[in-house]
Amino acid sequence: MGARQVVTCRGPARARRGREMAEVEVLRDAAVLIEDGRIAWVGARRDAPIKTQHAAPVQVVEVSGVLFPGFIDCHTHAVFGAPRLDDQERRALGVDYKAIAAAGGGILQSVRDVRSRTEDELAALTRSRLSALIAHGATTIEVKSGYGLELESELKQLRVIRRLADALPATLVPTFLGAHEVPPEYRGNRAAYVQLVCEAMIPTVAREGLARCCDVFCEPGVFSASESRQILTAARRHGLAVKLHADELEGSGGAELAAELGALSADHLAAVSDAGIKALAASPTVAVLLPATMIFLGKRAQAPARRLMEAGAAVALATDYNPGTSPTTSLPLVMALGVSQLGLRHAEAVTAVTINAAAALGLAAERGQIAPGCVADLVVAAVDDWREVAYWMGADVVSAVWTAGSACPA
Ligand code: NIG
Ligand code: FE
Repeated sequence: MGARQVVTCRGPARARRGREMAEVEVLRDAAVLIEDGRIAWVGARRDAPIKTQHAAPVQVVEVSGVLFPGFIDCHTHAVFGAPRLDDQERRALGVDYKAIAAAGGGILQSVRDVRSRTEDELAALTRSRLSALIAHGATTIEVKSGYGLELESELKQLRVIRRLADALPATLVPTFLGAHEVPPEYRGNRAAYVQLVCEAMIPTVAREGLARCCDVFCEPGVFSASESRQILTAARRHGLAVKLHADELEGSGGAELAAELGALSADHLAAVSDAGIKALAASPTVAVLLPATMIFLGKRAQAPARRLMEAGAAVALATDYNPGTSPTTSLPLVMALGVSQLGLRHAEAVTAVTINAAAALGLAAERGQIAPGCVADLVVAAVDDWREVAYWMGADVVSAVWTAGSACPA
């Protein structure tokens, strides 16, 4: 594959922390060789070792635009039914997210909806939504359950993800989020719901191999830090990696808890404390920031990305794609918001959706960079300068997507 510019993000197979985030390698007039779905070589076009010894046919593709490592969306809630238009209107009229949830809207509205739909129906809806994420460059996508909140409905969501992982060209990483909210039938007895999650849901999900990670919405009024600790400890015992919705709207020690538990990531962090920043900087836990969410909620607050990086933390970006707080399928839009709202440099925004997002899913060993041995997931942006990928806010900058060395249908 030849391209005018190739942004490789080449380096160690781990998250970039602090200042390292600004170091993306940009090669001009470059070539990438792919063999058996993996990157075999990358470098200056004139040095490309294309005279292969073996007789396998060589296909040459000239890319018009800039080649990036496949983008990685490390936080989505893509399995849902209808959009939540009434919530959006109420918010426009001044009612806030938590008040809407308390009035029966919010997550519980999506829960009623998901419970009432068949697996086939959800699969059809989710398929087209994931296809939109892929069209915007996402080649690996984390997808959470969390709109079932009862064993059968949570399993239904996770089975949808498993089916689509076989049907779509992207890699899907399923996460169990049974603790997204306390369901109405347990409102008077939250301890019993936490027990159900720990003793029935997690063991079943783990036994059936339906999830790689477990997540909890740790937030005052949703799950406390101690309930979150209980759930994630059970998840780890069953072999699941852990993640945490932490300090989104009000701080509650979520970042500190994520670091303490060795979580892959602490996500949101708009209300993270100084102690939380310190804890993340001193741990391998990736800070996953979701700027589109705060914009969609009409909030001015954003996570302190620069302070996190200055402290030495690893920062990733994701869409948080969901019907309540972030109905966007575009990682390039999120990168542009990363620059304008979080103060990231272009290179930091690229790192945040490639190698650092891979690390937030435990996949940094073979994803997130264009380097020999890595999976050949690649994105072409139809731009002249690589920085434009985070510039044309809301435009369709991604013109082609390749996963495991094959072009995805447009
Ligand atoms: O990440 N914060 C919790 N979960 C989602 C919102 C889900 C919803 O409102 O449906 C989020 O923003
Ligand atoms: Fe989320």
